[in-house]
Amino acid sequence: MESSSFRLKTAKASGAVLTRLEEWPRASFVREPTPLIGATNLANAMGRAPADVLLKMDAESGFGLGGNKARKLEFELAPDRVEGATHVITCGGPQSNHARLTAAAAARLGLKCVLVVNGDTEPPYTGNAYLHRLFGAEIRPVALAKERDSAMADVAAEIESEGGLAVVIPLGASTPLGTLGYVRAAVEIHVQLHDHPHAGETWIFVSASSCGTYAGLALGFTLLQRKDVKLVGVSADITQAEILESTEGLVDGAGALLGACTPLLPGLLHPTDDYVGPAYGVHSDASEAATILLARTEGVLLDPAYTAKTAAAMLDWARRERIPSGDRMVLWHTGGYPAALAL
Ligand SMILES: Cc1ncc(COP(=O)(O)O)c(C=O)c1O
Repeated sequence: MESSSFRLKTAKASGAVLTRLEEWPRASFVREPTPLIGATNLANAMGRAPADVLLKMDAESGFGLGGNKARKLEFELAPDRVEGATHVITCGGPQSNHARLTAAAAARLGLKCVLVVNGDTEPPYTGNAYLHRLFGAEIRPVALAKERDSAMADVAAEIESEGGLAVVIPLGASTPLGTLGYVRAAVEIHVQLHDHPHAGETWIFVSASSCGTYAGLALGFTLLQRKDVKLVGVSADITQAEILESTEGLVDGAGALLGACTPLLPGLLHPTDDYVGPAYGVHSDASEAATILLARTEGVLLDPAYTAKTAAAMLDWARRERIPSGDRMVLWHTGGYPAALAL
């Protein structure tokens, strides 16, 4: 059992770390806090008590059509990082939400944006592909995902040779620095949950791909010592082992930035790759059913690559009674609206 002096030391250490986080330079893209709303109709459809299902709406982060990447970009594109820069470079697929928000952020900061895009870059440009261009990004196509990093380095060198300076943001902004955005998001929901008192544990379902979102939440809830929180990381494309590996690396890196070497709370992480379905971005029967259910119970739009699969996992875990009665669920809606309309 923990002694009260241990608990006090942990609280003080976390307090210092969280102050450091708050003082870290960042841009301001997110309209905070994003809504945390009760989903009573959905809870009813799931056969749960009205207070048992909440939606955390980072889809409505208030910038560039919303989504999780805005929080990471606040740190990646902080004033000290863009000082003297002329360009921002990042990468993704043709429907990348991250590339869209990076293009929007670059526009807001008065910087040029180059997107290295793998896959189909032919018209018609719908959803994010349309927005990449609307927000003014220059598109550099590559055939394969594995060519993206070297193409970004080539573009950065080309810009430098012309007297410019580029900030290069790796895939998904899932760097230790970008991960800090989701440590802050954990603090944000921690405060919001005070208005939703609940006796049981809180199971948060969140999408995991490049894993900065999952890692930041994991580090944040650990620093806050929220032992009542369980984090279900639902893969959009990678294996359960890959989620754990990426998450651990990002937690270590982000923790080091904050001067925290806290091991994650035991029992916090619950990664799963059971809901990827036929392929990345392609609906499974379960994700399609989840999309229809959320639309018709709560008027909430899910995207096929990330949030629909996360919702499918939450519905399935509840149905299989993997969430004990008396516990509640939060679906962390990470965005993807443009891709949802580009099917
Ligand atoms: C809408 C949406 N949700 C979730 C994710 C996954 O977040 P992460 O890459 O931090 O794991 C992404 C990543 O591209 C995304 O665009």
